[in-house]
Amino acid sequence: MTIEFAVIGGTGLTEIEGLEVTHREVVHTPYGEPSGPITHGLIDGKRIAFLARHGYTANIPPHRVNYRANMWALKSLGVERVVAIAAVGGITPAMQPTRLVIPDQIIDYTYGRAHTFFEDGLEHVTHIDFSWPYCAEVRNALLAAAECAGVEVVPHGTYAATQGPRLETAAEITRLERDGCDLVGMTAMPEAALARELDLCYAACAVVANWAAGKCDEEISMEEIHHNLTVGMANARSLLRGLVC
Ligand code: HPA
Repeated sequence: MTIEFAVIGGTGLTEIEGLEVTHREVVHTPYGEPSGPITHGLIDGKRIAFLARHGYTANIPPHRVNYRANMWALKSLGVERVVAIAAVGGITPAMQPTRLVIPDQIIDYTYGRAHTFFEDGLEHVTHIDFSWPYCAEVRNALLAAAECAGVEVVPHGTYAATQGPRLETAAEITRLERDGCDLVGMTAMPEAALARELDLCYAACAVVANWAAGKCDEEISMEEIHHNLTVGMANARSLLRGLVC
């Protein structure tokens, strides 16, 4: 049976409720070790693979995630479709804490990350088309899953990928908003581009954990992020179950 979807869980999602785990698999790659073993399981009889992006004990910060190993590992298992779950900050008014967003664009502000498979030992220089960084098929599956599961989602948004692990300054968020960004997170890149390089159909469900810096009167607290993620990730889990409904 082929794997229906791989799910990469972000902060607050280190396992999928309702996933009947069949086995865990350690995968070694030419790019090093993934964030952890791949968890294989079934939801309603459909095969799902799961990987916790920050490790199963949530100890790998965004700039230290081995994105190449993670994507390579999924590809090597025969995965074709990937759903990425990611915590983000909300910039524009629709991006309220606890909401789910299916972004359709990315601006990359990260640096110093191993961001491509196409560098050494090439026969020729290779460029990917990245005009639409998220795969329409998985985006549509996520939108259909939301409807099926009765979960509200914001169907569009431009994701600003920042370096972290610190949160942004208020001035940085003003700049991101001027650039056209709606939400801000630390993991969409290089993950999305590496997926495209491997011809994986990849899309994301962002969970808004907080108003981005300067977008509300108070400082951003870890308690607030934690609380909003608890609510938002419960909705993300329902949405994931909707993927197989
Ligand atoms: N900025 C960047 N990444 C994030 C944020 C944020 O405000 N919240 C959750 N992930």
